[in-house]
Amino acid sequence: MTRVVTTVEDLRAVVAEWRGAGELVAVVPTMGALHAGHLHLVQAAKERADRVVVTIFVNPAQFAPHEDFDRYPRTLETDVAALRDIGAELAYAPTAADMYPSGHATSLAVTGPAEGLETDFRPHFFGGVATVVAKLFLRVLPDLAFFGEKDYQQLLVVKRMVADLDMPMEVVGVPTVREEDGLALSSRNAYLSEEERMLAPLIYAELQAAAERIVAGDNPEEVAAASAAALTRAGFAVDYVAARNAETLAPVRKAGEPVRLLAAARIGNTRLIDNIGV
Ligand code: PAJ
Repeated sequence: MTRVVTTVEDLRAVVAEWRGAGELVAVVPTMGALHAGHLHLVQAAKERADRVVVTIFVNPAQFAPHEDFDRYPRTLETDVAALRDIGAELAYAPTAADMYPSGHATSLAVTGPAEGLETDFRPHFFGGVATVVAKLFLRVLPDLAFFGEKDYQQLLVVKRMVADLDMPMEVVGVPTVREEDGLALSSRNAYLSEEERMLAPLIYAELQAAAERIVAGDNPEEVAAASAAALTRAGFAVDYVAARNAETLAPVRKAGEPVRLLAAARIGNTRLIDNIGV
């Protein structure tokens, strides 16, 4: 049984009971429209914790006015059914008015890993993410939090925030779950037309080819630029393809650094992101 709570009082009562019994509590923050990638995070959380709270909240603060907040899929009933099937104990689905009551005036700003990449194209994004994730952490008070590598820059931003604000918890990254053709699962894949869906796996294919060239000794920045050009030729509007230090997301300076390749590209009206380790 997955219990659904919407108020912070109910959430805290359930979690306090677990903690009182000495149980380890994990949180998996999501915006709902749950797919196998999200459920994989829940499975990973179940392996490490006694109890798992999945938060479901489409966070207005991380969408710019022109973005897809209004049409973002909202499927609470099927989400809860999926959580029940895999044995997540609790779903926490607050309202926007509860998360941001009138007069709410505080938000977080993260630099470091939040600089560049997504921020160049979505300047509001990580401020909105950091603020809501901090609020969710303070509401749940988890021991562990699980985030997907799919949103690699987000994972590093959340890790940075937890370290910088001395939050007594561990942030765990989980590898990306993909379709058979390599496309990273995403709630936004539902926006793709049949034709766009055929093109979409090329992002991952290009990242893989680029990683091979970097391993073979080619210059990471040149390889990333060539991948961006190839995606553009194939019909994508490319926001970026970048080779960065995997721990800081700073530009790659020397041989032997851990490298992460990250990409964001639009097909039609849909913006897709992906990344892989080199
Ligand atoms: P959302 O896009 O719903 O993603 C929730 C979590 O699922 C994130 O940690 C994301 O990285 C992970 N995820 C998504 N697709 C995945 C895939 N294919 N494989 C593995 N993990 C995947 O990310 C957000 O929501 C929001 O920004 C949030 C953190 C909830 C703050 O509002």
